[in-house]
Amino acid sequence: DWTMEAYRDEAVRRIREEVGKAKVICALSGGVDSSVTAALIHEAIGDQLTCVFVDHGLLRLNEAEEVVAMFRDHMNLQVIHAQEQDLFLGALEGVSDPEVKRKTIGKLFIDVFQKYADEIEGARFLAQGTLYPDVIESVSFAGGPSVTIKSHHNVGGLPEKMGLKLVEPLRELFKDEVRALGRELGLPASFIGRHPFPGPGLAIRCPGEITREKLEILRKADAVYIDQIRKHGLYDEIWQAFVAILPVRTVGVMGDGRTYDFACALRAVTSVDGMTADYYPFTHEFLGETATRIINEVRGINRVTYDVTSKPPGTIEWE
Ligand code: XMP
Repeated sequence: DWTMEAYRDEAVRRIREEVGKAKVICALSGGVDSSVTAALIHEAIGDQLTCVFVDHGLLRLNEAEEVVAMFRDHMNLQVIHAQEQDLFLGALEGVSDPEVKRKTIGKLFIDVFQKYADEIEGARFLAQGTLYPDVIESVSFAGGPSVTIKSHHNVGGLPEKMGLKLVEPLRELFKDEVRALGRELGLPASFIGRHPFPGPGLAIRCPGEITREKLEILRKADAVYIDQIRKHGLYDEIWQAFVAILPVRTVGVMGDGRTYDFACALRAVTSVDGMTADYYPFTHEFLGETATRIINEVRGINRVTYDVTSKPPGTIEWE
């Protein structure tokens, strides 16, 4: 008779057997999969695990601090906070093509992860939050039992290059089972129920050139929007919600003055797996209240729009 508690004990036993006394490294993103992977492996082998959290400067407001504090202080994991904002934002200067953004970030992510991993002496394993659907997908695409390197916190080609073996303790699980395992391991509900966040982060929510100014405005607007969604009890009904800052300034009036600030777009969709999605039918009241709050609370934005595009034909992200 199958329970998540029994599964967890069995998974812990298998990790111990597989890893022995060796050291393991893990790229921690704060997403559900990498969080559960790290918590499970830590449960099995404690300080033989070191996590690397790469801060590329494209995270949401307070995100890095919250993730690091929760794993390091609350759960006692060894976490290296790789502060590489300048490196990533420097490389992205003047880049506006979405695919170039993704490639730039992906390549740097691997370089940075390797740099930090190289400093962890004696590491022999790389932990990865590969799920069962990823395993099936990689088999059907590659025609053989290969390893899916997930698009973000993954380190394509690195395991071989660094002579690391992979440890993938979630390979047999579906997403809802990963969430149940996370709860079993004591991860807070706020982590387990989080909306997905793309590897390239805010870069693909900032169409056109990325500047520190735009990122700062975007972070503040996004925080207000998510706060509104939570306050109205809608967070768990929505698959993903975020703000995109548009590469256009528009005219407005505020008090007795004219403003000339950025416009932004709110996005919220329902979905089962991210492959297709419907825009979320907020009430006009909610939208109006949210627009007013963003414009009042976020300097730099004077116009708010709501994206009513479903997928297809749109994508969830703006880039
Ligand atoms: P789209 O925009 O393609 O998004 O409809 C579908 C889901 O995938 C996420 N997404 C990404 N995740 N790296 C990622 O790790 C990426 O480059 C990327 N692009 C999109 C998106 O947030 C949504 O959940």
